[in-house]
Parts: sequence; C-alpha cells; structure tokens
Amino acid sequence: MQSLLILGRQPALGLAELESLYGANALQMVGNQTVIVDIDPCLLAFDRLGGSVKFCKVLTTLDTTDWRKIEQFLVGVAPGHSETMPEGKMLLGLSVIGLDTNIRQIEATGLTMKKAIRNTGRSVRLVPNKALELNSAQIIHNKLTGLNGWELVFIRDGNKTVVAQTVKVQDIESYTRRDRERPKRDSKVGMLPPKLAQIIINLAAGEVPETALKNICEIPAGEPIPMPTLGASVLDPFCGTGVVLQEALLMGYGAYGSDLEQRMVDFTEGNLAWLKEWYVYETPTGVIQGDATHYKWAYDFDFVACETYLGRPFTSRPSPEIINQTASECNLIIRKFLQNIATQIKSGTRLCIAIPAWQNGYNQFKHLPLIDSLADLGYNRMSFEHVRDADLIYHREDQIVARQLLVLTKQ
Ligand SMILES: C[S@@+](CC[C@H](N)C(=O)[O-])C[C@H]1O[C@@H](n2cnc3c(N)ncnc32)[C@H](O)[C@@H]1O
Repeated sequence: MQSLLILGRQPALGLAELESLYGANALQMVGNQTVIVDIDPCLLAFDRLGGSVKFCKVLTTLDTTDWRKIEQFLVGVAPGHSETMPEGKMLLGLSVIGLDTNIRQIEATGLTMKKAIRNTGRSVRLVPNKALELNSAQIIHNKLTGLNGWELVFIRDGNKTVVAQTVKVQDIESYTRRDRERPKRDSKVGMLPPKLAQIIINLAAGEVPETALKNICEIPAGEPIPMPTLGASVLDPFCGTGVVLQEALLMGYGAYGSDLEQRMVDFTEGNLAWLKEWYVYETPTGVIQGDATHYKWAYDFDFVACETYLGRPFTSRPSPEIINQTASECNLIIRKFLQNIATQIKSGTRLCIAIPAWQNGYNQFKHLPLIDSLADLGYNRMSFEHVRDADLIYHREDQIVARQLLVLTKQ
C-alpha cells in the first residue's frame, strides 16, 4: 500500500522534506500539489511533517477522469465498503483535486452513494462541500478520519484518477498552541512557524531511521501515537525563543541550543518548561549563551538545524543601500559561524540553515553572497531531484525578508 500526501502552501518545501526523509526514488508527483510516497501508510509518521497538510492511503487508480464514470465506480463499491465498518452512522466526505467537476456534481454523487449505502440498512451522513476539497477543520469536526468516517479524495493524474482515503489531517489545534501560546515571544526575533521548523529539522536529519518507523496501525484507536526516541540530537546555534528545539523534542530528538543573548536563552528555557506542561518529551535538552561565530559547543549533537540571524525586520520596503548593508552584516555573521562550526563537526555532518534573502520584486530575491562560496567554507550544498534549489525559499508575497533553506554537508 502506498501513502499519498497533499502538500502545503509551498509544495516545493514539503516535497524536499519528503525527499530528505524517504529518498527521491520513493516519490511520485501527482499534479503539482500531491505526492505518492512508496511507503506503507501504517509506517508514515505524519505528525513529523511540516510541509504536508493531508495524509491519505491510496485505494486504487481509475483509467478515467470522467466524473460520471467515477460516480458509477463509487456507487458500485460503497455498499461493500460500508459493511466492513463498525456499526453506527457512517460519515461520508468527498474531495476533488484537478478533475473537471463542480460542487453541485460532487454533492449529487455523494447523495447517490448515500442512497446505495442506505439500501444496505446503514445510516449515512454526507458532509456537504463548501469547495471542491473539504478543509482540515471540516474533516476534524465531522470525524471523517474516525472509525466510521470515509473521506475519499480524487486526484487527476494525466488521464487517470487516483482514489485515496484520508487517514489524517494536520493537527491545527496543536500547531496553533505551539505557535501562539508559548509564554515567551519576541516579534523582533521573528516568529518561526513550527511547521517550518519541522521542515528545517527533517532536511537536516535526512533519512528516517528504522526506529522512527512505528506501526501506527497497531496502536488502538483513540490512543495517542507515541513519538519515538530517536537517539540522535540536533544543535540550533541561533536558538532565539526555541522553536527549533521545541519541535525537535516533540519529534523525538535530543535538542541543544545557544544564542548570543542571555535574554533569548532565558526565553527558550521558559518556553521549553511550558512545553512540558502540554507534551511528553523524554530526550535530553540544554541551552547556553554563546556567540555562534566563535563558540565551542560541548554538546554531543549529530546535525545542525537553525534559523540564523536574519538582520533587522522591515515593515516597509527599505532602500537598496539599506538592504545591501543588512545583507553584508548577515553575510559576515553567518560566514563566520559556518567557518567556526566546520572545525567542530565530522565530515558528512548535515546542516539545514535558514538564511535571509530579501524580496525585491515578484519572486525575485537578493541572496547572501556566501551561497556562492560554500565549497571554500568547507561544505557541499545538497541538491534535490524533485525540487530546484531556487524554490527552497519560504516567503509570503507581502514579506520583505524571506528565509532561504540551505541544506549542507560538511566536506
Ligand atoms: C531569527 S532569530 C532566531 C529565532 C528562532 N528560530 C526562534 O525560534 O525564536 C536569530 C537569533 O540569532 C541570535 N544571534 C544573532 N547573532 C548571533 C550570533 N553571532 N551568535 C549566536 N546567536 C546570534 C539572535 O539573538 C536571535 O535570537
């Protein structure tokens, strides 16, 4: 059985994350927002993924993209499927990506399926579509991923249609808590979204270790899925308020950090103490004050994941001179940091660092000069088969400072 993931707002980031974890050969794009991963859905750790919003298991592929033929197929299989479900009301939802249909037709199909299932004596509730795709909130609210739920997703793949069933959607409540409810926040340091922190960690960590491949299908329904303890540790030398450390701990890694400012060290400690009130984590952690351009870390870490110094935040577009000045300040700090840590890590150690880039036109960026001299600094830049280097950049249209993700290995 294969897994299918629907990628987030910037599909390239989610795709690179999956390539890092599962390898390029395991991935097959379906359209531009969806990817089939050649891994058993029981073994896919969806909660670790920052770049995917929906996780499905592939049921079948149909040799048609004609909605009427798809409906005929559904009406044929739905009664049989309903008989495999536990007793009680069945909850049905339909989502469509890339097929030539509309909300009215989807609803009509849902009603025809409902009738066919009711003829077997089972009651069904159809979740109405407000759009072609049901959103995460609708799926959670209507318990469509529960034991009596059946949310089907239809994705156009050339002249075929992949049919998949939703297993899980992202835990919006937990992400919101981890993003907005931490006690120590600082708008000047910037707010690294937890999902982006997960992507950075996964890009740095590389292939999923065997121990992380927990069989979630063996965990009784309703019980929380325990995060495995992975036996590896991450270092964030620009830890700020500690989002990378927080996410790494929740993913089962040991997590160590340092920051130039003692105030930030105190913030991270406060936030990690708060995290313990909400979540269970058992891996070691530590934070210390230190300047990343010359500090010698005593921590035992396996890889480096961080959002480096991004320069001062801008609310309006600065002049080219100001951008150049900020860029050279950041370039100096990050270059010195890379030189410093290169002397302290083994050959082959992976790093994923988010560095600043400044948006100076639609999808155009001023980059730091150091990206052209990574080899001289002692690093190889990793490339991805499914994603161009230029697309590894997290930004919003209205943001001036973007985060460019560099994935490096020490030579
Ligand atoms: C963009 S913030 C990182 C925010 C962080 N990801 C978080 O979760 O809050 C960059 C951090 O780098 C720190 N910093 C700046 N220069 C540094 C240096 N030379 N060594 C270590 N930390 C530095 C700043 O104090 C700031 O906390």
